Amino acid sequence: MSTETASNGAEGGVAAASATLTVTDNRTGRQYEIPITDGTIRGIDLRQIRVDDEDFGLMSYDPAFMNTASCRSAITFIDGDKGILEYRGYPIEQLAEQSSYLEVAYLLIHGELPTQQQLDTWTHEITIHTFVHENVKEFMQGFRYDAHPMGMLLASVGALSTFYPEASQIKDAELRYQQIIRLLAKMPTLAAFAYRHNRGMPYVYPDNDLSYAGNFLGMLFKIAELKYQPDPRIERALDVLFILHADHEQNCSTSAVRGVGSSQVDPYSALAAGVGALYGPLHGGANEQVLRMLHRIERKENIPGFIDGVKAGDERLMGFGHRVYKNYDPRAKIIKKAAQDVFDVMGTNPYLDIALELEKIALEDEYFIERKLYPNVDFYSGLIYEALGMPVEMFPVLFAIGRTSGWIAQWLEMIEDGEQKIARPRQIYTGARTREYVPMGSRS
Ligand code: ACO
Repeated sequence: MSTETASNGAEGGVAAASATLTVTDNRTGRQYEIPITDGTIRGIDLRQIRVDDEDFGLMSYDPAFMNTASCRSAITFIDGDKGILEYRGYPIEQLAEQSSYLEVAYLLIHGELPTQQQLDTWTHEITIHTFVHENVKEFMQGFRYDAHPMGMLLASVGALSTFYPEASQIKDAELRYQQIIRLLAKMPTLAAFAYRHNRGMPYVYPDNDLSYAGNFLGMLFKIAELKYQPDPRIERALDVLFILHADHEQNCSTSAVRGVGSSQVDPYSALAAGVGALYGPLHGGANEQVLRMLHRIERKENIPGFIDGVKAGDERLMGFGHRVYKNYDPRAKIIKKAAQDVFDVMGTNPYLDIALELEKIALEDEYFIERKLYPNVDFYSGLIYEALGMPVEMFPVLFAIGRTSGWIAQWLEMIEDGEQKIARPRQIYTGARTREYVPMGSRS
């Protein structure tokens, strides 16, 4: 029995291994000692485990990345079992209570909370970049009258790269910073234009006297008034929603941003990939599905029958369950409160009662308890958006505005991480091998 030691791959400032894993390959009887760092072994350390010289080496198979860390990150901490979420070490509850979205965006991107002066400069820079080139407006007008606003957002964010070709110079910190400001500033403008297009209403230009959330509300809802005045309670509720959605570590859309960004493409193209991922019903589209589900249930009396269908596997209880949280999603608790604030202004949403009842029944039901299925952030966010007068198609768009700061922070961290390379997973090939080409006339 031979003993082989893997290189610990401790380059790039990674701390020395504090423990090891001993693996015996029963095919050969050889033993290997693999370093464990931060509760993780390096996938590449498995490669030395080979049957013979011809063997490529052992790989790990992990569809959907259920147990693979793809990066080291200092941005967002989640303890899914305990229901903890922190941005740069600050609990989400404190940030939602005390900070503004732009403050949180600064925190995520720069790593520290801003001083008053830093926040003022940051806010000013973002505010004066909210306008988009007139040609952006024109090509958005070219979308079909009923185009989904998320599809419009996806296309227009990507298209920004053509307006700022210097964005491709991602190694230049100053140019990078300019694109970061533009992305944060223009995302609400693009989102609002998409909404107005969908409604057949003229686009509203940004009003730089208003706050980030207030200006967005103005671009959505302004009609003939000379000056749009947002209700401060609605403005705050929207700001809190942006904070809650700002980052969630290596979720599907963030992984898409990192994956596409790893090719060193410009950040507009990388973020367009994030918007695309967020469009899906299992990710940012979930709140749209929650609302459709609540509308379909229609009355409290229909809930038991619906739950039976979920348990029989006919459908899912949308807004429940999470890959990471096996406890109440901390964001769902904060959102429940924000929902109440919005309903106080806008009047109650009849579907809130159905949602509350659904939650109560599900939390007491063995099926959901056993599988640790709790409400996630999307269970209540859709109700708030609906109370604000948003059509369901806008829900993932609102999510994308908040998540923009997280995508940027994660993209930046990746760019500056010396260990990262172009993302390129391996596969287990299961198809045919080296077949003789069959001419058309000979095919059956
Ligand atoms: N309703 C009913 N059953 C569910 C649900 C649900 N919402 N979610 C999971 N389950 C069941 C599964 O059927 C499975 O049961 P089984 O073991 O008997 O087969 C078990 O719970 C584990 O589920 P998985 O699908 O393996 O869990 P996974 O981590 O892959 O999925 C996901 C997580 C996609 C979020 C899932 O819970 C789901 O589809 N939820 C509804 C959609 C949703 O709300 N998405 C928003 C997520 S939050 C966000 O993106 C911001």
